Amino acid sequence: MSTLSSKLREFTDLKSGVVRLTLSDFRNYKNLRIESAISPIVITGENGSGKTNILEAISFLTPGRGLRGAKLSDIKRIRRQNEEESDFAGWSVAADIIKNGEEHTIGTAMQSFFKEETDDTHSYDRRIVKLDQQKITQQGELGKYISAIWITPQMDRLFLGGTQPRRSFLDRLVYAFDLEHAKRTANFEHLYKQWITLIKSGNNDIRWLESIEADMASLGVAIAAARREQIARLNTFVEQEPDDVFPNVRLELDGTVEKMLDTEPALQTEDFYASHLAKQRRNILYNDYVDGVNRTDFKVYFQKKNMPAEMCSTGEQKALLVSIILAQTKCQILYKGFAPILLLDEVTTHLDDQKRDALLDKIRALNLQAWITSTGLQNFDILRNDAQFFRLENGKLF
Ligand SMILES: Nc1ncnc2c1ncn2[C@@H]1O[C@H](COP(=O)(O)OP(=O)(O)OP(=O)(O)O)[C@@H](O)[C@H]1O
Ligand SMILES: [Mg+2]
Repeated sequence: MSTLSSKLREFTDLKSGVVRLTLSDFRNYKNLRIESAISPIVITGENGSGKTNILEAISFLTPGRGLRGAKLSDIKRIRRQNEEESDFAGWSVAADIIKNGEEHTIGTAMQSFFKEETDDTHSYDRRIVKLDQQKITQQGELGKYISAIWITPQMDRLFLGGTQPRRSFLDRLVYAFDLEHAKRTANFEHLYKQWITLIKSGNNDIRWLESIEADMASLGVAIAAARREQIARLNTFVEQEPDDVFPNVRLELDGTVEKMLDTEPALQTEDFYASHLAKQRRNILYNDYVDGVNRTDFKVYFQKKNMPAEMCSTGEQKALLVSIILAQTKCQILYKGFAPILLLDEVTTHLDDQKRDALLDKIRALNLQAWITSTGLQNFDILRNDAQFFRLENGKLF
């Protein structure tokens, strides 16, 4: 056994994942409970049977807005016709998890609350999170206990469309290693909106603008540095541990601030970024294009072919995505010391038979928890002896 596989084994033998999951008023589920093993878990069912919803519920055990990026209120179960109004105003997900053999509980729910403003009462939704029965205010805290990596059918177009989904994908890879990254990107977003509103309002308070720009620059450089670090970590890993089936990727960042960090120290880059923002104030009045870390693109190449991902075939693009996810999973196990949960929604679509079997076999060998959905059972022979199999029918698991 290579040193890498024995090191991976050392951590995954300790086991991490969800062992019991309970959904209440979550999407199509009034109540659902699943007792799950730390193994591959294959869920089959026809279209609309609720497979993706289960994966989405698990994604809510981690910080953020889940694998659909949904609005909290859309998740609450829509009652059937003639069904009585329930007392419960929101939805909830509860889980018993284990992290390297240690048991914990996580609960999360939507809570609506009302805020009186001068002439009106507004209702707000927020997600509350409890860890071991204690309410926590920083969702990021969850990252110390549980981590999830997902592939969804929407991501089949990740390399083709606009830059935003790629940037979010990249930022999720970064969060897993740097829990502060989520906070930084949210704060940057907040300042950015404030800055735009201020400029559009015609307020010419230069000191105020400069102070926001300085804060944006300092956060922006930290964001760019964290992205660079993660890209370097994954590139090095792929170079040292090339996969035998999935194509080696080369990852690059295409962003002004990230590029500048190639040659300039952080402080200089911060000064440059602040003045770069100041120079762009006028742009905002004509169009909303502002260059900076909010525009960075994440470029992926099929290394051997020297081909940008967006020019690869559909199946090749899926294989590149799988490559990134496998490298990220192994890096997380090695550097963070516990295995992420994989949420693989219809992951076998577009993969040829050899790649499909190789992927399932690699997941099995990683010895971690992977939730895999499919409309049919036919592709999962290779996991026959190792996976837990569930079939979904009318919102019930068999
Ligand atoms: N808030 C909600 N309340 C009730 N039902 C909902 C809600 N949101 C979504 N649904 C329904 O949940 C059902 C299951 O959705 P889900 O996406 O999990 O299906 P799926 O098994 O993944 O199907 P597919 O194979 O097509 O991907 C759908 O019929 C959907 O309309
Ligand atoms: Mg689905």
